[in-house]
Amino acid sequence: MKKILFLTLLSLAFTARAQVVVSVHETATDQPVIPAEIYGQFSEHLGRCIYEGIWVGEDSSIPNVNGYRTDVTDALKALKIPVLRWPGGCFADEYHWMDGIGPRENRPKLVNNNWGGTVEDNSFGTHEFLNLCELLGSEPYICGNVGSGTVAELAKWVEYMTAENGSMAELRARNGRKEPWKVKYLGVGNENWGCGGEMTAQYYSDVYKRYALYARNHSGNQLFKIACGASERDYEWTRTLMKNARWNMSGLSLHYYTVPDWNNKKSATDFTPEEYYNLLTDTYAIEEILTNHIAIMDAYDPERKVALILDEWGTWYDVEPGTNPGHLFQQNTMRDAMVAAINLNIFHKHTGRLKMANIAQMVNVLQAMILTDGPRMILTPTYHVFRMFNVHQNARLVPSEARCGTIVSASGEIMPSFSQSVSRDRNGLLHVSLANPYLDKAVKVEVEFDEFRPKAVSGEILKASTITAHNEFGKAPAVAPADFRDAKVNGKKLTLTLPAASVVVLEVK
Ligand code: AHR
Repeated sequence: MKKILFLTLLSLAFTARAQVVVSVHETATDQPVIPAEIYGQFSEHLGRCIYEGIWVGEDSSIPNVNGYRTDVTDALKALKIPVLRWPGGCFADEYHWMDGIGPRENRPKLVNNNWGGTVEDNSFGTHEFLNLCELLGSEPYICGNVGSGTVAELAKWVEYMTAENGSMAELRARNGRKEPWKVKYLGVGNENWGCGGEMTAQYYSDVYKRYALYARNHSGNQLFKIACGASERDYEWTRTLMKNARWNMSGLSLHYYTVPDWNNKKSATDFTPEEYYNLLTDTYAIEEILTNHIAIMDAYDPERKVALILDEWGTWYDVEPGTNPGHLFQQNTMRDAMVAAINLNIFHKHTGRLKMANIAQMVNVLQAMILTDGPRMILTPTYHVFRMFNVHQNARLVPSEARCGTIVSASGEIMPSFSQSVSRDRNGLLHVSLANPYLDKAVKVEVEFDEFRPKAVSGEILKASTITAHNEFGKAPAVAPADFRDAKVNGKKLTLTLPAASVVVLEVK
């Protein structure tokens, strides 16, 4: 029955709206700038994210610069990663930073209890991470250990990284780094309602204040302290934190994963159209979740001093067959590209409060940008969306709305049948990002401006022969961007046809 309703509504949507009209209000003023940090990444000590994915060590046969593999870091540089979160995740609340400094051969080994029981040799520690951030041009976002670490341990870590003087600075210098690093973002624990200590919101808000107090600003470094936030629709957590601790925080986090079903996460590459639309409506649910958390924050903080930080988001499926279930290694199809595009278009519209988002995770884990297999590397469809969309970083949002139909998934959830957003960059260029989620329907699009008369338009498109298409080691890429020449200027309008299941970014002059 549900299936019949789903198909009927879907076909009604097709016939009622074969054409989408996007109205762009480029004359609107006072719009927020889209923070580059919306394009943040997350790198945890989990599976092959850090080891093999990024860090191979100086002696590796895989080409590397100072231990960082060259192919991966070169590809990551093209994404212009504004901020990188580390070392977890759940790993953060069992991580003791002093294990990861000093001569590597002396560093203790620990069992990664959260992620497959893998033995961690701590060869990638604070210096290796902060130097990686310098290599990528990314702002570090350190997540501290609150669940099993002490207040003093976190305070000393901040001092070690950022102070010019004192015994922590001297220890850092003995370990090869005289100048302190600049560290802006400090997370005070991770998922402290779960793997970070199983705390109640009330208890955590007191603990947060204690840890945050002693994490000091040293030598001109200004910390932006982020309290652990809610999971999904736990609005009570947000309410309690805002009520008890809003004066002491710069940001409050939120985690939202797009998961087919937590008890049956299903394949990353083998899915039906019905499962595809279910996943997309689950993705779209972030709009409502952001709106609700923001409304609570607005009630306590109408001046919007506390930022909302979505520091984990993305798809989560079963691991690839034959891989360690604790390593969360999943493939990435054109469906994931669609999920990324829809999410990013939504995030742009909430940047009055949402100031950072970190996709989980950067390499080899969950909805990754890059997958590696020993010396081999592939770029995922999600990578291409992040590269195409990075023109929105630090650009001013231009309000827009789409007149389109709706998609009702078999699970009974509803979403618009089209996704778009528009921004104007510092050079005055307009960028329009569009996604057509229909699997079997091209959509004719008219983009109409209030007053602007475009002179020229160019673009890039990401599409594939099938929605399950993904890039595989040793094969020609099945999903890669191409020039898009179909958009035409017509007075105050652009006209184009978006193929089924495609993502397009236009540059308009
Ligand atoms: O990203 C994987 C895990 O998901 C993180 O470690 C944790 O914070 C979340 O539950």
